[in-house]
Amino acid sequence: MTPRQPEGEALPGAGVLPEQTSAASSSGRERPFSVYLHVPYCRVRCGYCDFNTYTNLAMGGGASAGDYVDTLAGELRLARAAMDRAALPPRAPQTVFVGGGTPTMLPAGDLAGMLTLVRDTWGLAPGAEVTTEANPETVDERYLAALAKAGFTRVSFGMQSAVPHVLRTLDRTHTPARVPQVVAWAREAGLETSLDLIYGTPGETMDDWRRSLETAVEIGPDHLSAYALVIEEGTRMWAQVRRGELPLPTDDDEAAKYELADALLNRAGYEWYEISNWARPGHECVHNQAYWRDWDWWGAGPGAHSHLGDVRLWNTKHPVAWAGRVAAGRLPVAGHEILDAESRELERVMLGIRTREGLELAGLARLGPHGPEPTTAHGTPARLVPVVGRLVGEGLLEGAAAMAGRAVLTLRGRLMADTVTRGLID
Ligand SMILES: C[S@@+](CC[C@H](N)C(=O)[O-])C[C@H]1O[C@@H](n2cnc3c(N)ncnc32)[C@H](O)[C@@H]1O
Ligand code: SF4
Repeated sequence: MTPRQPEGEALPGAGVLPEQTSAASSSGRERPFSVYLHVPYCRVRCGYCDFNTYTNLAMGGGASAGDYVDTLAGELRLARAAMDRAALPPRAPQTVFVGGGTPTMLPAGDLAGMLTLVRDTWGLAPGAEVTTEANPETVDERYLAALAKAGFTRVSFGMQSAVPHVLRTLDRTHTPARVPQVVAWAREAGLETSLDLIYGTPGETMDDWRRSLETAVEIGPDHLSAYALVIEEGTRMWAQVRRGELPLPTDDDEAAKYELADALLNRAGYEWYEISNWARPGHECVHNQAYWRDWDWWGAGPGAHSHLGDVRLWNTKHPVAWAGRVAAGRLPVAGHEILDAESRELERVMLGIRTREGLELAGLARLGPHGPEPTTAHGTPARLVPVVGRLVGEGLLEGAAAMAGRAVLTLRGRLMADTVTRGLID
């Protein structure tokens, strides 16, 4: 979830949703629905992280870890009532994702309780994907078996690196040997597994990164994410870099590490399906795709974001303020915005271009003063033909896909996705 709070208007009354929260997509079909549940606790605050998370588990006022599920129950009740009032048809979630923070700071019974809340509020689609994030040091065999029994289908572990000095720089508290152990336990319990890796940590060599990738591949999860380390303003690591205590990773180092990741993961049978995500075929994370494919979702918990039709909503960030609003019977939404057609197009291009499926260029056609603009046989707007030709010539877009009316990034294009987005949006 985005840690910084955007500007936007609060909702009227106790939380009346705007009219634009229609459940129908532009094709007239009902949009699928997902749920995100945020858990704002961590054992240690990693120096690079600016997610909305706290090491104090006893904040009080309904925001303590012991009260968390009850307060969440209150928010889901308010959310369902607000959606009913807005005449949004109740849809059983296709995916549920429990993220953080570190959800597994809570007992397994609490996570099971959170899934029961979702079932009681909206039901759950048959075969729904139910994921939790977990830090390797916070779970054991019994914990993972309890999650599977409760209906979780997938666990995403924060491995980050297999190299002790890199883990130390990142303030991670697990040992490298813990990761294969927890993945084996999850697998025995029947859960799908994913590992998160970070590259570009100050002091990480190319050999260090190769070792992390080779170790991850050896562990053999169903799915892998690899993120370039972002030095977020205001974090402890940002201050260390500013004081010259840690070197800033270079763009060239990050690009070389990305290319190495793609090559090693491909060789091991993982295919990219979004710039930072690889999976064995058939094991792509459906919840991720909900974000990229413009599904609706309700995000519950402090600072969580929701997405309903053209409306974006974000919750009050501090857990005590969030819990106070829920206790007062008010949706804990701090602000909202209604996207206009231009912002929606930008969002669609930015998210769609990052995926292996790519972007249908016909979707960028506009209505001019004299009716629809001219297009090619595949529907690509004529005005974009020279732009797409240039991006193919520069090796950023796949030529065959472009001929068929889709913008699909090449490996080089994945390193320069922002340049491609800017080109397509003029
Ligand atoms: C919200 S964290 C939650 C998972 C869990 N607490 C953990 O850290 O393993 C999800 C993932 O975001 C990534 N992440 C967090 N901060 C980041 C940063 N500044 N740059 C790149 N990736 C980051 C990490 O890989 C982490 O696994
Ligand atoms: S454990 Fe995860 S969420 Fe918590 S501070 Fe570290 S990276 Fe952030």
